[in-house]
Amino acid sequence: MSRIVVVSNRVPVPAGNSGHAGGLAVALLGLMQRRGGLWFGWSGAVTDAHAPPAFAQRGAVGYATLDLTEAEHQGYYTGYSNGVLWPMLHALPHLMSFRRQDLDIYRRVNKRFAACLTPLLRSDDRIWVHDYHLMSLPGALRSQGIRNPTGFFLHVPFPAPEAVAVAPGIRGLVQDVLAADLLGFQTSADRDNFAASASDFAGASRTGDHMIELDGRPIRLGVFPAEIAAREFAATAATQVEKEPARLLANSLRDQALLLGIDRLDPTKGLPERLDAFRRVISRRPARSATMLQIAAPSREDVVAYQRLRAEVDSAAGAINSEFGEPDWLPLRLLARPQTRDTVAGFMRLARVGVVTPLRDGMNLVAKEYVAAQDPSDPGVLVLSRFAGAAAQLDSALLVNPHDAEGMAEALHRALDMPLAERQERWQACWDAIAGATPEGWGEDFLRALAPGDLARLPVAGSAQSAAAAGSA
Ligand code: G6P
Repeated sequence: MSRIVVVSNRVPVPAGNSGHAGGLAVALLGLMQRRGGLWFGWSGAVTDAHAPPAFAQRGAVGYATLDLTEAEHQGYYTGYSNGVLWPMLHALPHLMSFRRQDLDIYRRVNKRFAACLTPLLRSDDRIWVHDYHLMSLPGALRSQGIRNPTGFFLHVPFPAPEAVAVAPGIRGLVQDVLAADLLGFQTSADRDNFAASASDFAGASRTGDHMIELDGRPIRLGVFPAEIAAREFAATAATQVEKEPARLLANSLRDQALLLGIDRLDPTKGLPERLDAFRRVISRRPARSATMLQIAAPSREDVVAYQRLRAEVDSAAGAINSEFGEPDWLPLRLLARPQTRDTVAGFMRLARVGVVTPLRDGMNLVAKEYVAAQDPSDPGVLVLSRFAGAAAQLDSALLVNPHDAEGMAEALHRALDMPLAERQERWQACWDAIAGATPEGWGEDFLRALAPGDLARLPVAGSAQSAAAAGSA
């Protein structure tokens, strides 16, 4: 059975310094453990000079990680990936900050990844590249003579060609990524936008819903919405709601309804807009009737737009509390300290309203987690941005336009006042959309599309996605 080689900017090395592995990373590890695998990427460390990759083996999975130099970290990660690609891909071009040398370094780091990965590859490996940091990697690997099946999955949105074109260098990156055999997206809109850019920027022609062709070479395009382990998360939430952090929170609320937001502190998450809507809500409801808990974990603190956002959110939160607070009550609790996934699951079960209102989001797994965490007999209401990828599946949530503060405020009022029967009906439809899927199924589906013949023979852990895909194969 061929190995899976995953390449991503962050690598969840066990006990490493790259942070806690999220649900998708755990799923990828599971797939790699069953087949053997190699995870390649940035170590998370910044050092003075180039060194060969550090290697660690854990069971059937090897980890090969590279340190970045200060200049590489600045140019590739902070500068071009997060200062240009991230805002452009989320249709926030005014937040882009482009420097020509950052683009050069981005491409050089992608080439360095390819050069260091090449000697570690075996002839029958399948390579799966992740996300916008590594758009040049498929092309760089082909330049190294690598012909292995190569897939690329974009975790973030891909806007229309006119919006994409504002990022200097993007034409070359689209050409580079087209060296892959399979390109995966969160939604069909992202896939179609990419296909249009591939045609405009690289002369590729669309030959079907799932296929484009470039210089006679077919390239598959797939839609693979990222999933959570919904049943597992539901069980965690039911347990965690009885544990201390959730009990302390519940006691502090007494009978108030809880509105809950869980985000990285990121300009795409629409936090100032959300606070504006909450301000309107709280101004029209009696004091002590509702409280909002917003967890906004600091992120990418070297990027100026993120520093400005922190100041803006802190100031808006302070203004809400000073205007509407009472000596014994503050309407908004803003926490910068991230909480564990388990704790958050318990908080989600307590919350009458889950507020997930990004300006733009590839998927947003918090929306799915909020649905999974609810008590089916008394579920809360998800208020969801129609510009999150999750809205394509969770269309029974209250969908809002995050740029319309008044419209969002109306949806929050409606959520707070919604009768039980409607809450149950909406929740059930959302639950049905996510209950059968798993992150493992997401990964299996991608790998099957990457190398159909090979994977068709594999016994697959039964998820709805995988079962459906296997049935139609
Ligand atoms: C998004 C991106 C990921 C990224 C994560 C955290 O989900 O799609 O690729 O890892 O944000 O951001 P960070 O810059 O801390 O890796």
